[in-house]
Amino acid sequence: MSNDTFICDNIGVNDQGHLTFAGRDTSELAAEFKTPVYLMDEGRIRHNCRVYTQAFKEHFGGESRPLYASKANSFKYIYKIMKEEGMGIDVVSSGEILCAYKAGYDLSKAYFHSNNKTDEDISFAMELGIGYFVVDGFEELYAIEKEAARREIKQNILLRITPGIDPHTYAQVNTGTVDSKFGTAIETGQADEIIQEALAQPHINLIGYHCHVGSQVFAEDVFERAAVVMIKYTAHIYRDYDYMAQQLNMGGGFGVRYVDTDPYLDVSKKIADLAEAINATCEREKIPVPTIIMEPGRSIVADAGMTLYTVGSVKRIPYYKNYVSVDGGMTDNPRYALYGSKYTCYTANKMNEERGMNCNVVGRCCESGDIIQRDVLLPKETERGDIIAVCTTGAYNYSMASHYNKIPNPPIVMITADGSAKEVVRRQTYEDLIALDVD
Ligand code: LLP
Repeated sequence: MSNDTFICDNIGVNDQGHLTFAGRDTSELAAEFKTPVYLMDEGRIRHNCRVYTQAFKEHFGGESRPLYASKANSFKYIYKIMKEEGMGIDVVSSGEILCAYKAGYDLSKAYFHSNNKTDEDISFAMELGIGYFVVDGFEELYAIEKEAARREIKQNILLRITPGIDPHTYAQVNTGTVDSKFGTAIETGQADEIIQEALAQPHINLIGYHCHVGSQVFAEDVFERAAVVMIKYTAHIYRDYDYMAQQLNMGGGFGVRYVDTDPYLDVSKKIADLAEAINATCEREKIPVPTIIMEPGRSIVADAGMTLYTVGSVKRIPYYKNYVSVDGGMTDNPRYALYGSKYTCYTANKMNEERGMNCNVVGRCCESGDIIQRDVLLPKETERGDIIAVCTTGAYNYSMASHYNKIPNPPIVMITADGSAKEVVRRQTYEDLIALDVD
């Protein structure tokens, strides 16, 4: 296979016919760190951050900035990278807040999401000096007011508004329509009400609005349409209630390539198009352009990740199917089981063999649905001991991992800028898995 046939240019093949990732031989990495293992390419993460930061500088300027949606992959080292790259962060739980804090990330740059923040979450976030709450609804607004009053502070918030845009992605990640558990809808009039309520709270400082229409979005003009709705809405609130939002957070959601047939999205161009739509609408509505925030997760880390497994068996059922079982599965990557997500898989140590065997790559859990990918073409020679690589696993794999069947989670091995590889999250042990059990 030639190197230009891979879905991302940090993947290649070396002279030994081994798959390479971030310039490193994956068979060697598998031997050194054992499998299953999540690999991450630090250079690619930083590159993806810079695509956003530069495009924001060029097309929006001022205080406008991208945040990393850390639900995509949350561990200490990644918050250090985000700090160095000048990225804000989006966090969704006290767990992510603690992780960022312990990594030395300045939480005044963090936006706290979630449709259900408990009183403990609210208090914990304020205690650590969170920059902004993204408030989902009325009850949360009052809970934040109460805690801010108790602390005698004025808390910055954004309100999550549902713009009524369908992003045409899979149902589980579609959040822009009125019928959503997230946010307060414009269409029902409730958004107007919550804004008035927020403005009336003495310990709340309403900074602006947030919207997020969905994830893995490729459809042409979804972000522009959402932006137009939000800018028009901002103008309506200004005219009717004399409140001008300073910030508009457009959420995350740009799609990434998992397989050859996925389109390639030019993020710089998408941001330029978004800026054009926002500027033109602000001009038409005669309002100043707000500070624009976006919070990409997947498009920062997905193609910076690859998972390596070892084959345990190749089961051939005559006239039916072939099954390649690996030493991980839905516990480290539940995305096929949950969404039927597509992935590109290779036999990493046999890249020069013809890929003539159609098979399902399956995990080791006691469950038929434990599938990494169906109908994968791998070499007929694939056998026990070979290394299977699954590409583009940097987003929503480690962060969605489980312990089903008491299977420990793989480590994260970061390939740093100088090409060295180091564990930034260690492998979970069986002892870790039973550490919480009370004897
Ligand atoms: N902002 C908000 C408010 C979000 O809810 C999300 C994703 C993002 C930003 C980041 O979106 P991204 O740029 O990563 O598309 N587990 C699913 C994805 C869930 C996305 C949830 N929210 C998956 O594995 O596909």
